Amino acid sequence: MDMRSADQAARVAALQDAALRVNSGGSPPRVSAEWMLPKALWLAEREPHLYDTAATICEYQDFLNLRLTGVRCGAANNMAVRWHCSTQQGPPLSLLSQLGLSSLAAKWPTSSSSSSSSAPLLPGQLVGGLTPAAAAHLGLLPGTPVAQGGADAFIGMLGLGVVAPGQMALLTGSSHLQLGVVGSELHGPGFFGTYRDAVLPGCHVIEGGQTSTGSVLAWFRRTCCAPGTPYSELDAEAAAVPPGCEGLTALDHFQGNRTPHTDALSRGVLAGLTLKHGRGHVFRALMESVAAGTAVILRTMRAAGYTPECITLAGGAARSELWLQIHADMTGLPLRLTRCADAPMLGCAILAAVAAGMYDSVPSAAAAMVAVEREVRPDPAAVAAYRAPLARYAALYPALAPIFHGKYDNGGQYDNEGQNDRASDGGEAGAGVAREGVANGLPPTPAAAAVTVAAVVPSSTLVGGAGVVSRNSATCTISIDPHDSTPNPNPSLSIPASLSTPSPSSRDIIIAPSILAADFANLGAAVAAAAAAGAPWLHLDVFDGSWAACDNFSIGPPVVAALRRVAGGGLFLDCHLGLMAPGRYVERLAAAGADGITFHWEVLQGGQGGQQDEQRQGQQEAESEGGRQGGTASSIAAAATTAVAVRQLAGRIRSAGMRAGVALAPDTALPEELVELAAQGHVDMVLVMTVPPGFGGQTFRPAALEKVARLRAACPQLLVQVDGGINPATARQAAAAGADVMVAGSFLYGHPQGVAEGMEELRSALKQAAVETNGPSES
Ligand code: DX5
Ligand code: ZN
Repeated sequence: MDMRSADQAARVAALQDAALRVNSGGSPPRVSAEWMLPKALWLAEREPHLYDTAATICEYQDFLNLRLTGVRCGAANNMAVRWHCSTQQGPPLSLLSQLGLSSLAAKWPTSSSSSSSSAPLLPGQLVGGLTPAAAAHLGLLPGTPVAQGGADAFIGMLGLGVVAPGQMALLTGSSHLQLGVVGSELHGPGFFGTYRDAVLPGCHVIEGGQTSTGSVLAWFRRTCCAPGTPYSELDAEAAAVPPGCEGLTALDHFQGNRTPHTDALSRGVLAGLTLKHGRGHVFRALMESVAAGTAVILRTMRAAGYTPECITLAGGAARSELWLQIHADMTGLPLRLTRCADAPMLGCAILAAVAAGMYDSVPSAAAAMVAVEREVRPDPAAVAAYRAPLARYAALYPALAPIFHGKYDNGGQYDNEGQNDRASDGGEAGAGVAREGVANGLPPTPAAAAVTVAAVVPSSTLVGGAGVVSRNSATCTISIDPHDSTPNPNPSLSIPASLSTPSPSSRDIIIAPSILAADFANLGAAVAAAAAAGAPWLHLDVFDGSWAACDNFSIGPPVVAALRRVAGGGLFLDCHLGLMAPGRYVERLAAAGADGITFHWEVLQGGQGGQQDEQRQGQQEAESEGGRQGGTASSIAAAATTAVAVRQLAGRIRSAGMRAGVALAPDTALPEELVELAAQGHVDMVLVMTVPPGFGGQTFRPAALEKVARLRAACPQLLVQVDGGINPATARQAAAAGADVMVAGSFLYGHPQGVAEGMEELRSALKQAAVETNGPSES
């Protein structure tokens, strides 16, 4: 999903212009970064030359029509649904002018003179005939009529024969989309639309959506059942469970909520589990949660004045009789099923038939071409039985939203004694930013995803590439564009260029995905995901089980070498050594292709633990130094041993061509000697652990941030890393304390929408932190 224009989307939404009334009644933030205005604004701001010289700015569909027919025309469907435009009012001129984009309307394909009319074309209207070149390419006759189309789900409405007020199309798959025909214009909170002329002339369409539905059932089968378990087996188990699952209620928001809450941070839930519940209960609870989500959307629409009479359903949900019945019972509406399962495809055929002159209108073509085969009617007893489960479902999101928004992420410090202010500030604002940053729970588009990958991959080898967020600027500082990145003279050391500048406020923040949280059976994929998401660094935890305080065994030099092979030269591989004898691994890790080694202060501390070379040498050197200075040799040596050993090991790491870092466990007070070493430039990085070393997924300890702040103040040139429990809320706190590198494991690799989404949420949070620290930038 190309979310580069998340910031622009937020600015579009904030204007609360009348043209935004189709976006959940016009209250922000309800504008997706995927849509026309944010993207055009991004282009105008970030690639002004491209914007200025572009004759046409349009959807890929318009471009295809141009290539097929030579006609440059607008699509009424896309323009109504995603351009804040209408066939009645035309382009959203006041919105465009407030954004400084008045020139955009003239670049839209509607202004073409080559088209017979400058008005956008409705679905089924004739675009033109195939050009000889397009006809030759496709093996068709020149002049073959090309019909205007639209977004798949809207054309799917036609394929379901949903053309009259009161009818509703439910398109099911990995997500659910509810599209209803409304008699007159309607706007309000909790739904999108109504869009006029989006599918039929004069017809108003209302839109609701659920981001994860079939995907939730697929997730359950994949993760909780034996491989190959058929859905029919799960269906049978679920059918044996009564409606309401004996008190078990699920929330289907595994990838956020599109409507009515429009909250990308909302998450899936199973509430009310007891020991009597079995697999069938859980599977049925998930099925019920999806149907309940649709019921709540319909309730929201009814409250605004739209009352659907029936639902015509297409897609995967039709394969389960049980699930169909649950939908009918939860919504209280009859479900109609049509003969042709592929509704968007049949919709295209309907439009083509009209454009070819076989029918005089889309409704008459739909009447002739769509066949309703059967109906699933609600069972009155079940409708009554679902009343309480529906109420429980509807109560879950509002009750849990503070948790989803990170209010309790601050090490459990969200309480009634005044500490909640800080936590809630971070949580709320972070949530707002992340909401915008992940498309307001809207679905990804494949075309946009391709753009993101293409732009990000080359830049990951460059300084200032994606994943690096400038701390001193509020807007447009995420540099995802390979063209405006400064080449790194040494690509294997992706240290931000601005590190050489004295002012800490001008540093870049690096996000380093921690491999410890990735699927160890798929490490190559984990590296690729981080690279594609634009991560400039990878954090590799090298634990060999030798240090009691870090009781885990993770990866070693051979695996680092393998990761280097798949990472190529572009990613900075930062090895965090949670083990007793770090000196043993310096040369081996250098040979494996590591770029940085961070070892623990604690393991070199005088007298503790193993017999590392550094420690013995440090002791000798410190003793002789103490002797020269004439003090009590043993006391001075005790104080200096660790520092000398650290300095020596750091030197060895640097001699091997890597950056040297020192890590501190959360309970270790910041040693004065380390501050001194760092201030004198003997180490490149200090990694402040915000959880006990060893395992991912632990709770962030905010107390450790005092060390970050002290290091930042004392050592402007030092890279200060934070490791453990990093998420958008805690990243903001760490950034505010002055951290340069955010190591994030479970948040990124456990992110339900993938590493790229997680990175995007972290970047948004960091950008917000930058605004708070430095104030908004020039614009
Ligand atoms: C913990 C490791 C971290 C770990 C962080 O001992 O050093 O690198 O992967 O993981 P999260 O962010 O999931 O706590
Ligand atoms: Zn680590």
